[in-house]
Amino acid sequence: MSISVVILAAGKGTRMKSNLPKVLHKISGIPMLFHIINEAKKISNDITVVLAHQYDLVKKSIEENYSDIKIFKQDIINFPGTGGALKGLKFKDNQKVLILNGDMPLITKESLEKLINTKAPISMSVLNLDNPEGYGRVIIKDGSVKEIIEQKDANSEIKKIKTVNAGVYTILGKILNDFIPSLDNNNAQKEYYLTDIIKYASKNNIAIEPIEVDKKEFMGVNSKLHLAKAEQYMQERIKNNLMENGVIMRNPKSIYIDIRAKFSGEVTLENGAIVEGESFIENSTVRAYSVIEDSIIKNSSIGPMAHIRPKSNIQNSHIGNFVEVKKSNLNDIKAGHLSYLGDSEIQSGTNIGAGVITCNYDGKNKYKTKIGKNVFVGSDSQLVAPLNIEDNTIIAAGSTITQDVPKGSLAISRIKQKIVESFYYKFFNK
Ligand code: UD1
Ligand code: CA
Repeated sequence: MSISVVILAAGKGTRMKSNLPKVLHKISGIPMLFHIINEAKKISNDITVVLAHQYDLVKKSIEENYSDIKIFKQDIINFPGTGGALKGLKFKDNQKVLILNGDMPLITKESLEKLINTKAPISMSVLNLDNPEGYGRVIIKDGSVKEIIEQKDANSEIKKIKTVNAGVYTILGKILNDFIPSLDNNNAQKEYYLTDIIKYASKNNIAIEPIEVDKKEFMGVNSKLHLAKAEQYMQERIKNNLMENGVIMRNPKSIYIDIRAKFSGEVTLENGAIVEGESFIENSTVRAYSVIEDSIIKNSSIGPMAHIRPKSNIQNSHIGNFVEVKKSNLNDIKAGHLSYLGDSEIQSGTNIGAGVITCNYDGKNKYKTKIGKNVFVGSDSQLVAPLNIEDNTIIAAGSTITQDVPKGSLAISRIKQKIVESFYYKFFNK
């Protein structure tokens, strides 16, 4: 049976206390909505996201990252609520529709498959919670769900029920088509409840299978505290998976890794390492407290305390402490200490001394620094771009280099040292 996915993401997310729409808040580098879309794509290629609050912004963000996601605008003024989100959507009668929430970033394909692979025409996710506060309570009789009663509509007896609705369902298309039009808003919140579809179906003797799901995975993110918790779980998942696949991590708790980052071969990440964006790291060591952003690192050692900024490509190199690299191609070089290498291209055998700075920005534009093979750049030199330093050259320590340096030469630009004998004793009268 074919599966369609509907992701409800129209709500305001008031409790996030943010101008950014809730579903665009990031977890491990990507908006939480994208985590859900990515899992949904493993199950179906027919995915609809329901939007309303900050519609244009969320729509744009989805379209910039996906080409095959349908977007449906909920008439949230006239039809608020999770049921209102479905008003106007049409489904094929003989397909299953998986309904997800845009704020459940930890959900996995494996758990969703449990909800899909049932014989019942409806299955729904339930949790058994010690503290069911806030959730819809689920009334189950003879193994089938009869009704879901929202907290705000519940009497004190119902509120004692600890089986709650986690908010994810698979429902046969025909059932949705039949019952969506009859949803009303006769309830405490004056909202159109998706959960009423369950009640109507049950009254029509349709079997509704409750499926107990994992608390962590089906956690909804409603506040920044939830966001931090979800981040923590996601990080654990990412790192455990990487360690199972051969990445060495020293004190994994202290390490942060973007979900898009990829690793290959023998990689060691020391404590406090941060790997952001679409980085690729192969056969390398990222030493303590180094930050790698959207860069490629192969056969290299980075840090401790190095900052590799986006679009760097570092191969066969040693990048030492307090070195910042940005948008640079470095191959077989050494930059051991305290340097800034921006918009540069440096070739094999070259040594960058301590404190070397590429002056890549004149306040208006950025310029490139090219350094050839086997160049020795002496410590504390400033390389004022645009600049081309050819192969087999020496830059004397403390030089400010403003002109291209031809192959084989020495470039030196500093004031000649003067010695004033006995000056100390005269100056201090000693
Ligand atoms: C809903 C369930 C409740 C369940 C809970 C689990 C209903 C009526 N209640 O509660 O039984 O325990 O989820 O988290 O369904 N949304 C829209 N349009 C809207 C309103 C919400 O798209 O008009 C989206 C939200 O963006 C969110 C999802 O639906 O992704 C759930 O909305 P939320 O307000 O968190 O759920 P509740 O109504 O509190
Ligand atoms: Ca609500």
